[in-house]
Amino acid sequence: MPKIIVKKSGPLKGTVKVSGAKNSVLPIMAASLLAQDKCTLEEIPGLRDVDVMAEVLTSLGSDIKKNSDGILEINSAKIDNYEAPYDLIKKMRASFLVIGPLLARMGKARVSLPGGCAIGARPIDLHLKGLSALGAKINLGHGYVEATADKLIGDKIYLDFPSVGATENIMMAASMAEGQTIIQNAAEEPEIVDLANFLNSLGANIKGAGTDTIKIQGVKELGGSKHTVIPDRIEAGTYMVAAAITGGDITVKNALTDHLKPMIAKLKEAGAEIEENGDHVRVRAANGIKAIDVKTLPYPGFPTDMQSQFMALLSVAQGTSVIIETVFENRFMHVSELNRMGANIKIEGHSAVVQGVKALEGAQVRATDLRAGAALILAGLVAEGQTEISDIYHIDRGYVEIENKLKSLGANIERIENHGNDSDYEDL
Ligand code: EPZ
Repeated sequence: MPKIIVKKSGPLKGTVKVSGAKNSVLPIMAASLLAQDKCTLEEIPGLRDVDVMAEVLTSLGSDIKKNSDGILEINSAKIDNYEAPYDLIKKMRASFLVIGPLLARMGKARVSLPGGCAIGARPIDLHLKGLSALGAKINLGHGYVEATADKLIGDKIYLDFPSVGATENIMMAASMAEGQTIIQNAAEEPEIVDLANFLNSLGANIKGAGTDTIKIQGVKELGGSKHTVIPDRIEAGTYMVAAAITGGDITVKNALTDHLKPMIAKLKEAGAEIEENGDHVRVRAANGIKAIDVKTLPYPGFPTDMQSQFMALLSVAQGTSVIIETVFENRFMHVSELNRMGANIKIEGHSAVVQGVKALEGAQVRATDLRAGAALILAGLVAEGQTEISDIYHIDRGYVEIENKLKSLGANIERIENHGNDSDYEDL
């Protein structure tokens, strides 16, 4: 099984370019199922999740061309299949985002229920509540969701929780429903805005994306378009933490500082120096990091996808920090791995109490989800000795060439491809 070996590295210095956002390109690829003409997507990150979503769309009848410089052409004019099978959905739960567009385009969809995963049960009740509010008949059975609707009719939908995926699925289905749909308590993430901008470029009529109330006026048909996905704010945040934890000086390019406010604020509070310049941010931390408290919340709060990276940082901060995870019920799987490296972290319900230690020790650890994997790499950069990380397929889901980007900043990091089999590539 391939592994990543990280050795104690000095302060990382230099410039790194952020790739297109994974959590933007995946819903946008799903949305291309709505388009009667070709969609050209740019700044597409070379990630396994993108390959899996392309596999799903191809299985539905889309014609996909991917070229080397991050351009993806998708033509779903002739899609002829409305079933997304288990063996594809189990690889990546985001494939469930095809149900909304399939329903709108084909009048029916049969999509395998996504399983739970390492960070929580990941239910889809809000997705289904929204689709049935639009008139879909929903049947659950044999691990599949079957949704049918001769016609989708707009409605007012309140989300009990501002679910990113539910907001996306409902927005995509509503874009071709009859009349107006209003989503209340909608997710406000930048990826929702990017998806709405893409849908509007196809001819949809969506207003309010980025706020908690999104209004969609349905249209009969959607055409093709060209769209550049936004930069990945979580990848950007991860390299910002790499500067902070190693006491380095990194300029993160192609990073929209507007999307990075929580990470900028918390790193400043922890003692880092931050220079914001619109599309790039510079992070220095020559004077060490002090303990802070972090609480994850839906956007614009502190992102749950940055929680594990900050935990790695705070495990070597001066003082004791408290991290509260409010979005997922079980997103502390990385605690036991960090503690194997000598961290002093205690979980108390949804809180983790992180007592900063002088130094971590290299150890053999395993990535339990993609952000936890990134956190272990960050910890390995400052741990005494060598850290060996397995199950790195998680990391490849969300980070383009992380070891090469870190190496270019001075990190002592290698990927060891050995000839064993990769463990089952399942969404965790
Ligand atoms: C998206 O997942 C992201 N994935 C996640 O990123 C991210 O952590 C999450 O949003 C929160 O920001 C993609 O965009 C592909 P949710 P999603 O629906 O849509 C509960 C990463 O690291 N919920 O906002 O699945 C759910 O259980 C990944 O890149 C319901 O109860 O997240 C969770 O506790 C990990 N019922 C909370 O809402 C539902 O129907 C947030 O889930 C849906 C969700």
